[in-house]
Amino acid sequence: MRKTTGTLTNGKKAVVLYYSHRGKTAAYAREIAMYLWSRGLNVRLSSVSDAKPEDLQEYDYLLAGCWTCGWFVVGQHPHTRWREFARQIRGRMDAAHTLLFTTYRIRTGSMRPRMKRALGIPATQQVPFLKSRNGRLSSTDKVLLDHFIGTPPIH
Ligand SMILES: Cc1cc2nc3c(=O)[nH]c(=O)nc-3n(C[C@H](O)[C@H](O)[C@H](O)COP(=O)(O)O)c2cc1C
Repeated sequence: MRKTTGTLTNGKKAVVLYYSHRGKTAAYAREIAMYLWSRGLNVRLSSVSDAKPEDLQEYDYLLAGCWTCGWFVVGQHPHTRWREFARQIRGRMDAAHTLLFTTYRIRTGSMRPRMKRALGIPATQQVPFLKSRNGRLSSTDKVLLDHFIGTPPIH
């Protein structure tokens, strides 16, 4: 992947933390991390089980993801293990520098509000949210990521 180091992102650091059961969320997290790297950020990619809450202070951006758990049409929520980790990192990253993501099969339902709640982010605070059925980063996702890190999109 071509790296287009932007002056705006120089020296900025992002951490992509995920919880995946079968690997799709891990693949999506990897694509997100690669894209941020291609835009000039220093990126760390890690599953929540390998991450330490105190490490978060090193980073400018947090991108946190979990697979969608529920009854397929109702009751969507992040998995307990992700929620436990989210509680541990509550308040360690400014909500304005936080992005959430998920993978799913049918619908994500209440994933975004429930992920926000687990992180202690007020319901009124806007937080960007990416979702994918196939674990691949779409062009819309890339535009949203560019907006999140404050760089002009690549055309
Ligand atoms: C127990 C269980 C519950 C699930 N509930 C939902 C659901 O409510 N809605 C949905 O769209 N997908 C649901 N899924 C599908 C997963 O969210 C989807 O396959 C996801 O991409 C898996 O991510 P992973 O490969 O990282 O584990 C469920 C899967 C499992 C195993």
